[in-house]
Amino acid sequence: MSAMSKELSGIAPPPMAMLAELTHRCPLACPYCSNPLELKSVAQELATEEWIRVFQEASEMGVLHLHLSGGEPASRRDLLELTKAAVDCGLYTNLITSGIGITEKRLDALADVGLDHVQLSIQGVDQKQADRVGGYKGGYERKLKLAAWVHATGIPLTVNAVCHRTNMDDVPAIIELALELGARRLEIATVQFHGWAIKNRAQLMPTKGQVEATTKIVENARNALEGKLVIDYVPADYYATYPKACMGGWGRIGINVDPTGLVLPCHAAESIPSLTFDNVREKSLQDIWYHSDAFNAYRGTKWMQEPCRSCDRKLVDFGGCRCQAMAIAGDAKATDPACHKSPLKAKLLELANEQIRPDQNAPFIYRGRYNFP
Ligand code: SF4
Ligand code: FES
Repeated sequence: MSAMSKELSGIAPPPMAMLAELTHRCPLACPYCSNPLELKSVAQELATEEWIRVFQEASEMGVLHLHLSGGEPASRRDLLELTKAAVDCGLYTNLITSGIGITEKRLDALADVGLDHVQLSIQGVDQKQADRVGGYKGGYERKLKLAAWVHATGIPLTVNAVCHRTNMDDVPAIIELALELGARRLEIATVQFHGWAIKNRAQLMPTKGQVEATTKIVENARNALEGKLVIDYVPADYYATYPKACMGGWGRIGINVDPTGLVLPCHAAESIPSLTFDNVREKSLQDIWYHSDAFNAYRGTKWMQEPCRSCDRKLVDFGGCRCQAMAIAGDAKATDPACHKSPLKAKLLELANEQIRPDQNAPFIYRGRYNFP
């Protein structure tokens, strides 16, 4: 069977990457947090030996990259043990961190067991802005320290910046900061409206002008910094002609395991009420990837409706994001409303414009907090 026929019929290759959400605990309270509204408690989290078994299964089925994430993965006391186990399985380990909870000593120990890569989130380019967005006083200083320690170990560093209306004009300064911190890669990702971000949509929604300016700035910086800094850019798809291939296609490249062992095709998949998800406590990762209803629901192209079904881009973007289709169209099988062929594109733009009314420039709503002092 050709690769094209396999794609069309939804026959899945093994996943390349696994996102292990070790915990939902996090010292920060970013207003765009992509974790679910109802966070999983520490008592529900997988135990050390359960995670290690999951890493072994992932490696055996062909996963190459393991992203150790959260919440804040440093909130797990066994982070060192888990990282070592993942390295021993032959997985390439990437620690995705806010920088809070990792001391120099702890980082050196992680480097000693073979941690391959660190991805550090930044919320702004100065202390006031960064701490306000992260909802955590003193966070900015600690991030700068962590970046310096990472640099000293020789572990490659990626800086990740989620951009939204209140910090998008600072993209040139974000690029400068990434260079100063010694990052080899910078990910500039426009905020995605899932999870907690929906509560702050009015404050976070960038304007079309901001998005267009950022696209140009990134293009110019990519040329100017070639060989020095790689810049990944996720633009705001609601202003674009086509949607992005969310997760590289449903159940096609990546697999997410939540803190309790639920296996998800993407971080927001629980927002699709018709789906039920299997747990690594009951089934093997391999069984879930290949045979579970949730992973097979939107694989291939058979599930697609028009206009996706007869579109020549259906193997390019796979109909866009299922969770965005669910949120805006109320139907996870619908064409992603970010696509210009979707009958809901105008509604999506209207929704974006409505959010940008100046009177809606209210303070952020933080998870579990009334205010940021
Ligand atoms: Fe992609 Fe569907 Fe739009 Fe075609 S119609 S570009 S497949 S989202
Ligand atoms: Fe779930 Fe895009 S976030 S498919």
